[in-house]
Amino acid sequence: MFSKDIYIKRRAQLAGSVEKGIILLLGNSEAAANYPSNTYKFRQDSTFLYYIGLNEPDLAAVIDTESGEEVLFGNNVDIDDIIWMGPQPSVDEKGSSVGISRTAPLGELKNYLENIRRQGRKIHYLPPYRNHNKILLNNLLGIPTDSLKANASVELIKAVVAMRLIKGSEELKEIEHACNIGYAMHYTAMKLAKLGMTEQELVGVMEGIAASEGSMVSFPTILSQQGQTLHNHKHDGILTEGRLIVIDAGAETNMNYTSDFTRTLPSSGKFTSQQKDIYRIVAAANNLAVEMAKPGLSYKDVHLAASKVLAEGLKSIGLMKGDTEEAVAAGAHALFMPHGLGHNMGLDVHDMEDLGEDYVGYDDTYKRSSQFGLASLRMGKMLQPGHVITVEPGIYFIPALIEKWKEEKINTPFINFDKLKDYYTFGGIRLEDDIVITETGCRLLGAKRLPITVEDVEREMAK
Ligand code: GLY
Ligand code: MN
Repeated sequence: MFSKDIYIKRRAQLAGSVEKGIILLLGNSEAAANYPSNTYKFRQDSTFLYYIGLNEPDLAAVIDTESGEEVLFGNNVDIDDIIWMGPQPSVDEKGSSVGISRTAPLGELKNYLENIRRQGRKIHYLPPYRNHNKILLNNLLGIPTDSLKANASVELIKAVVAMRLIKGSEELKEIEHACNIGYAMHYTAMKLAKLGMTEQELVGVMEGIAASEGSMVSFPTILSQQGQTLHNHKHDGILTEGRLIVIDAGAETNMNYTSDFTRTLPSSGKFTSQQKDIYRIVAAANNLAVEMAKPGLSYKDVHLAASKVLAEGLKSIGLMKGDTEEAVAAGAHALFMPHGLGHNMGLDVHDMEDLGEDYVGYDDTYKRSSQFGLASLRMGKMLQPGHVITVEPGIYFIPALIEKWKEEKINTPFINFDKLKDYYTFGGIRLEDDIVITETGCRLLGAKRLPITVEDVEREMAK
């Protein structure tokens, strides 16, 4: 936990940004995996962590934006809990550790909120993403579960997004720590990868590092020689000569700040010349985005500039053709990179996706495009100092997508479909780093950058 002053200040700022009413923040509960007492690893709600700081289940808090009153709702443990879980701080002690002096049992939350509703005052809540909290909110507010998202407070969403998007120095320290754990995970995989070993062995070692140095992984590790599938969580392959291993993985610190890196390794330690060509194009797009990202540019601008590097590179090896500007404007490069350049990152690896990506990555000036590829860009708006974003260009050869475009004659002036046959078993390449926007540009996060050039990757793998 950070010092309690940080949480007090954050809550005061939030209360000042929401006009009238009560802000209701729900923490998460334990979630059963296969029977009630065998739970998944507990993960607190990120907004609850940001404002309340308490990393335990079954808590809720309210903030009265007019009187300033704050109440923490939770239950004290009984002797049975103490026998199984050991002594626990009381709810009063928990509240006081984060600057909240008034507490009440969780069962009183419903009465408290009914009283507010009787007074005709607004209750601002965030869109719930777990069924437990949907049922709880339905019970507390009487709103049908399928209408909860539509009735969530846009004013509160926008206020939370505005604060959480700009990272404070204490948060950047945690994110740097997550990046350093992420570095160790990836660097170890780079050293360990050997022909004949299973993908699962690499995943196990990487996730073990995340668990031993932090809270856990920031999302289930993506590691596969079938890298043309963007989020491939199957790890049943054996490292085989001539393949590329896409490894997209990150860590969470004990305070739940995240990292997210991707590197693509040659399974044998040596890239083929076809792989080198594609790899260097992706690395150039990554480097350009890192050089370019700064306040005053939108991340959509950076995405499009990186896309031009990809299109230009693909033209240079004969896979694309025509005018680069026109090809990118038409979205032709999205055949090879059907995703966005990156996303915000913080307490969530896709930061605040639960609040609605369009509130996080877009605004009244920057609207999400509906064009294939660009539509998947999670962050499009103007960059500001304190934004933490991933830079993750890629090139993939997805046979089903290539066949579809070919059949439907999509972007035919820009694609050399005939040449693509040679790439149907190529897989994919993605190279991802994490950056923070500064006053004048941006800075890579983490003490050291993972090897990214063809030469450095081959050198590290040979050692
Ligand atoms: N690292 C997974 C993602 O960005 O979606
Ligand atoms: Mn990512």
